Amino acid sequence: MSYDEKGKGGAAGPGQDQDKLNTELINIIQFSEKVATALCRKMDRAEVLGAVEKEFTGSGKYTGSVLLLAEDRDNLEIAVSSVSSSDKKGFLEKMTGNSLSKYKISLDKSKIYGKVVREAQTLHVKVSDIIDELYPGPIAKLISVTLGYEKEVTILTPIWVRGSVGGVFAMTAPVLAELAVPSVKNLAAYISFALESASQRVEQEKADAEIRKLSAAVEQSIDGIAICDMECALTYVNNAFAGIHGYSPDEMIGMKATDIYSEEQTKNAAGRGGFNELQRCWGEETTHYRKDKTTFTALMSVTLLKDKNGNPIGHLAVIRDITERKTMEEELKKAQKLESLGILAGGIAHNFNNILTVVVGNISLAKMNMRAGEEAYETLSTAEKACLRARGLTQQLLTFSKGDSTIAEPIDIAVLIRDSAVSALNGSGVKCDFSIPDDLYSVSADKGQISQAINNLVINAEQAMPEGGTVRITAENVELGQGHGLPISSGKYVKTTVKDQGEGIPKENLAKIFDPFFTTRPKGSGLGLSVAFAIVKKHGGHISAESALGDGAAFHVYLPAM
Ligand SMILES: Nc1ncnc2c1ncn2[C@@H]1O[C@H](COP(=O)(O)OP(=O)(O)OP(=O)(O)O)[C@@H](O)[C@H]1O
Ligand SMILES: [Mg+2]
Repeated sequence: MSYDEKGKGGAAGPGQDQDKLNTELINIIQFSEKVATALCRKMDRAEVLGAVEKEFTGSGKYTGSVLLLAEDRDNLEIAVSSVSSSDKKGFLEKMTGNSLSKYKISLDKSKIYGKVVREAQTLHVKVSDIIDELYPGPIAKLISVTLGYEKEVTILTPIWVRGSVGGVFAMTAPVLAELAVPSVKNLAAYISFALESASQRVEQEKADAEIRKLSAAVEQSIDGIAICDMECALTYVNNAFAGIHGYSPDEMIGMKATDIYSEEQTKNAAGRGGFNELQRCWGEETTHYRKDKTTFTALMSVTLLKDKNGNPIGHLAVIRDITERKTMEEELKKAQKLESLGILAGGIAHNFNNILTVVVGNISLAKMNMRAGEEAYETLSTAEKACLRARGLTQQLLTFSKGDSTIAEPIDIAVLIRDSAVSALNGSGVKCDFSIPDDLYSVSADKGQISQAINNLVINAEQAMPEGGTVRITAENVELGQGHGLPISSGKYVKTTVKDQGEGIPKENLAKIFDPFFTTRPKGSGLGLSVAFAIVKKHGGHISAESALGDGAAFHVYLPAM
């Protein structure tokens, strides 16, 4: 019968000597304390089970078993069995033909174990009753008689795992009165607690490792990641997010999102109330402010964060600086625009040139039939000059278009740069200052065309300094690696920079200066830069311009090295 059903604190059995019983009880209590002490320092499941086994084996008096529910929850598996002597163990294994450690007890077949696990009862039974149940037939008797189990008793009590029965603790001894039940239950509680803490520790370690893995991923992400609260104050930023904005992560905590991102954009995009009106997530190209007040274009996505109950608690922002990509896209657009214009301009220039030839030829003929000094002679000469200027223009247009073929040959780029610049500035009040190393890479190019490109840049520089000044021309070897942001392939280039001290180019014009016919000069045709651009592009290179108003303009020409 179940100990719980009979009531706690039952009397000693008839004929049992009270003093002996008391001593026995004290022994068990002391033993329990010893096991508890051994368990409290054990970290994992194997250590806990090992300690239980060691204490029982070392007691020489008690046998202890821990049986844990298998995954199917219908069988018990032996986790600890301290059958006191190895002789006994060997005999048992021989008789049953089973290794004890692999032995399974079916809860459907064993009433005793079934009661402990399925009804959470604590039982006080004779060992021979258990053997009868586990090994039906004559073999049970043989085992019980041989191993002296007929005299021994076992107390079986549940092992608790997360509030439900997860196994059975069984303690066996020759003398084990029912009065020992509370101590055995205590012992089972210690073991349950130690097993549960061990498994919680394992789970905690797993969870910690998962969190460490996730936070390392977020920390090391090349995309900027930030979290802000509902007042849009930043509560977390990763290194990339801080780096892109020119801050350290600590500096950014507590900053408002509007310090780095204009409120206007937020309202336009996410609704009148800004991100707090977001239903789920939003993503767009945005303009951000760096610490030094410069701006950059980013691709930003914002996700509304909610707590367990679905209440909004903040926002998660992921951004990527796409300035480089935007520049590339714009350069590509410009190149495509110039290419189609080139085809058009080339066609017109060709026909126009033919017409001019006829006009110039006829003017010459008309002049030949006149006497010098005649009034019409002067008028025709003016017309002829104008025609020749027009022919110069069509020549520029032809170079700009694809029509003009390139004769590539190895050139001494250093000499070419000097000669072109000097002849462009001939007779002007502008000086030229060169910084060109001797070991420039060799370049294969059309001498005439490159000279024209340099010439156009230097003339622009001169025109930008009507009061005089210095054009600074530098050349250097550069190696463009991955992600250099220019619309040319990676590799070795000669980079020539033409910088003046003029007024500079207003920001709004900077994107247009390479467009054919864009000019701000009263007598300009707006072809100089588009021609230079077309020439350099034809050579597999690139021209870019930079300028701050009032600080002159600088043009960088990249020509591929041989
Ligand atoms: N060094 C410079 N400083 C300031 N503005 C410049 C400079 N170079 C070019 N620009 C601007 O770019 C425009 C276009 O230059 P581009 O050389 O194509 O044409 P242009 O000089 O106006 O005429 P063209 O060269 O055909 O005589 C100029 O009108 C000017 O506004
Ligand atoms: Mg020009």
